Amino acid sequence: MQKKFEPKVFQLGYVALGTPDIERTKDHYLKTIGMTEVAQGHDGSVYLSIGYSHHDLVLRPGKQKALLHVGFHLKPHITIGDFARDARELGLAATVKTDSQPGIAELVEVEAPGGLVLQFYSAIEASAPGFKQTGASPLRLGHVAVLSREGDKLVTFFQDFLGFWLTDDIAGIANFLTCNREHHVVNIVKAPESRVHHIAFELRESSCHTIAADALRAAGVNLLWGPSRHTAGHNVAAYHHDPDKVIVEFYTEMDTFIPELGIFEPRPWHEHFPMKPRSWNELNAWGTEFGYNLAAG
Ligand SMILES: [Fe+2]
Repeated sequence: MQKKFEPKVFQLGYVALGTPDIERTKDHYLKTIGMTEVAQGHDGSVYLSIGYSHHDLVLRPGKQKALLHVGFHLKPHITIGDFARDARELGLAATVKTDSQPGIAELVEVEAPGGLVLQFYSAIEASAPGFKQTGASPLRLGHVAVLSREGDKLVTFFQDFLGFWLTDDIAGIANFLTCNREHHVVNIVKAPESRVHHIAFELRESSCHTIAADALRAAGVNLLWGPSRHTAGHNVAAYHHDPDKVIVEFYTEMDTFIPELGIFEPRPWHEHFPMKPRSWNELNAWGTEFGYNLAAG
């Protein structure tokens, strides 16, 4: 295992979900979330963009809902070949794939602990279909949260192999990790099963939570939790179910991590100065109790 070093990746790229009713699920992400369909794959997959990249979300037909894979953008100085070699040295299966999906000519796929399939690429087409002016119209895909029966090993993989920083945790169960200045890019929850917990889109600003909630309501979708400010990350977050009951988060005002200082940029709503990575016990900084058990997800 390599020593701590700079992250090998600099941002989350996309999430791929299996869905038993692709038309219904696609409709949600196109109309209510406000994404644009950019391409279709031979296997019936659809590639959806928020506004710039070829895809931020992939939906593939399947018998049941599933987290298929998660894509990360490699730092410019790390080649796919070097990355694959390093992964194999760690004992992981690393498969270089060309033209596995539209928009990405080459990538390397690695099965991380707990069976989480990760894809790493150096370039993705910028299709730039433009941002939708309807629905929630988020800015970007911000993070993905997964439950993992190999949680400890998966956290170690993200820290020691990919070079992520562990920022916060909640009760030692939910572990927040980042490869850039966002509080978290992945959230790994130790659990008896491995699956997606939620995917998260960043909205323009906090007043946009009302626009997003109204767009959901117009489609007959209720919020499950929030909007409210979290403890870990301090993001103002609101959650709903997509048609497959995958939890989708909209958030704003997430903490900005300064890795050089090991602190978060100070904010008026912080409880501690300096705000350093720490362990939290509660989810909700505002204390409101919602009927939905978000932690159980
Ligand atoms: Fe989240």
